[in-house]
Amino acid sequence: MEVKEKPIEVVFEKETEEQPTKRMRRRGVRRLAVGILAVLLLGIGIFGIYGTVRFERRRADLAKTIAAQSETIAALQKELEQQKAENDALQNEVKRKNEQMDALRENREPKVALTFDDGPGIHTERLLDALKTYHAKATFFLIGKNAARYPQLMKRMEAEGHAVGNHTYGHRNLTRLSAGGIGDELDKCNAVFEQTLGHPAALLRTPGGSHNGTVRGVAEQKGMPVIGWSVDTRDWESRDAEKILEVAFGKNGIKDGSIVLMHDIYETSVEAAEAIIKRLHDEGYTFLTVPELLAERKDEVAAGKVYDSAYPPAKG
Ligand code: NI
Repeated sequence: MEVKEKPIEVVFEKETEEQPTKRMRRRGVRRLAVGILAVLLLGIGIFGIYGTVRFERRRADLAKTIAAQSETIAALQKELEQQKAENDALQNEVKRKNEQMDALRENREPKVALTFDDGPGIHTERLLDALKTYHAKATFFLIGKNAARYPQLMKRMEAEGHAVGNHTYGHRNLTRLSAGGIGDELDKCNAVFEQTLGHPAALLRTPGGSHNGTVRGVAEQKGMPVIGWSVDTRDWESRDAEKILEVAFGKNGIKDGSIVLMHDIYETSVEAAEAIIKRLHDEGYTFLTVPELLAERKDEVAAGKVYDSAYPPAKG
């Protein structure tokens, strides 16, 4: 019994001694694996966070760079536009100087007719003062309704040699009226002329420059030529003296024989007109009324006919 029991115990003892070491080893391996895995995961996590932070930083840097570059591009574009504008202005200047040289060679004095519509108004007096300073004559196309409020200005215009024309009574688009309606608009304005100056207007400028056969027919009946323009300063639109000057002396700007359209009811227009008068005076221009300019350059001026400019006769 003893002999038999012993080996069993030994085997049992052997097994019980061996099993803990194996388990411990396995546990050790498992712990190691878990440890390595944990370290790995931690590493990946840290790397991930680090990567994200770096990525975000780079993205922010890139965004900054892009913003800076776009600013540079915008600044360059602005500079380019400015240089282009300066270049255009210089080219126009050269063109003007060449025209002046031509006029000098031909012993011809450049002439211009400045016209002012829609007044009189609160800035008209300042304009009349500027014209007087330069001995410049202009043409005023008055709205009857406004003219009735400023009889003294109307009288001053005529007394100082300016031409005063009919711009209708209520500034309505004449092409939308019947012949009778057109006649009323012209007659009501002329009634103000009669009352203040003792005679009707000798010229017509239609509101917006709009006319058709009916309008021209009525103008003919009333004995008035229809006066347009060749330089539109767009002063009513920009209300900016600098921009008005840019147009006046721009590509299709004022030259010998131009009829220039402005509006003396805006302060910016009068401000621009002062600068225009000074510059043209310095360039040797003479300022004439529309009838004076047409009389010099046209063989005849007829009622109901349209006149937009009075350029000198072609050479040759
Ligand atoms: Ni008008």
